Amino acid sequence: MHTLQQLQNRVAAEILALPIKSTPPDLYNPIRYALSLNAKRIRPALTLLSCQLFGGTIEQALKPAIGMELFHNFTLLHDDIMDNAPLRRKEPTVHAKWNTNVAILSGDAMFTKAFQYIIAAPDAVVKPVSALFTDTALLVCEGQQLDMDYEKSGTVKIEDYIQMITLKTAVLIAASLKMGAIIADTSTHNAHHIYEYGKNLGIAFQLQDDILDVYADPEKFGKQIGGDIIANKKTYLLLSALYHANIDQYEQLTDLLHDTKNRYAAYEKISRVTTIYNALGVKEMAAEAVKHYYQLAITHLEAVEMDAPQKQMLYDFGSDMLQREL
Ligand code: IPE
Ligand code: IPE
Ligand code: MG
Ligand code: MG
Ligand code: MG
Repeated sequence: MHTLQQLQNRVAAEILALPIKSTPPDLYNPIRYALSLNAKRIRPALTLLSCQLFGGTIEQALKPAIGMELFHNFTLLHDDIMDNAPLRRKEPTVHAKWNTNVAILSGDAMFTKAFQYIIAAPDAVVKPVSALFTDTALLVCEGQQLDMDYEKSGTVKIEDYIQMITLKTAVLIAASLKMGAIIADTSTHNAHHIYEYGKNLGIAFQLQDDILDVYADPEKFGKQIGGDIIANKKTYLLLSALYHANIDQYEQLTDLLHDTKNRYAAYEKISRVTTIYNALGVKEMAAEAVKHYYQLAITHLEAVEMDAPQKQMLYDFGSDMLQREL
């Protein structure tokens, strides 16, 4: 039985050894660059882990697992354009290092490569694995569109936010686990509950990401701090702040959100919004929400039929994720 860490290391080695052509350089170098940076490799490791825990082998799931990581990296290339993000994994983003058109097309190529790896799944499961992948990819696009729509909306509710992050982030983590379950040919009961486990953990993961976007140690996080505040992202933090603000804080927040004349420099906007967050304690509210979705995940993990030592690895993954700092 391999540990999650061993599986992450295996994936990291496979990714580094991936054959990537060299011409045209501006198509393939950004792919090589993006894949060479330090990343957690959570999604492919979960596909391998789940396959292993449900009785399959690592080799059966390796190619589709790599496909999930390639897809994830493709979404990041495009996400960084959409979020105007300068930094990723402690290095300049692809669109900042090259340009937007390069990031679009390299992203497209990475998506295509992702699908090549997905359809290299074992013959017996290639159909359900591909269907799961394409269904999930579409949901991620839906989530990303809602994320952008909400930047400009003043009527986003907490449940809209949860639905949005379910689509943009949680379904990919859910599908990574379910893919391993399908490859291992486990029951539909197990495939369902492992998906729901991953989905609720994925919601907790994105909530945590939104907390880190404001409060992380920039050295560890590797992304720009305050990017969500600059972009008016309707995060759990911002929605909670708007909900709990007194009249004065509410006016300050809406003034900062509607700063069409750009009176505030980015650092000043981040500092003013963060001051209100701190006064209201929204970080703690978001941390409570993380725990809530973690607990929901656990109820689905309990329903999975699996021997205790195996299941313990999934409990450990969930509790480690709550501690993440990057
Ligand atoms: C970043 O994903 C995008 C989100 C869904 C928050 P990760 O935090 O898994 O990023 P890497 O792949 O480890 O860099
Ligand atoms: C990530 O959301 C969702 C996808 C990439 C699909 P974020 O925009 O919060 O991710 P980071 O913070 O840039 O990694
Ligand atoms: Mg982003
Ligand atoms: Mg984004
Ligand atoms: Mg983020």
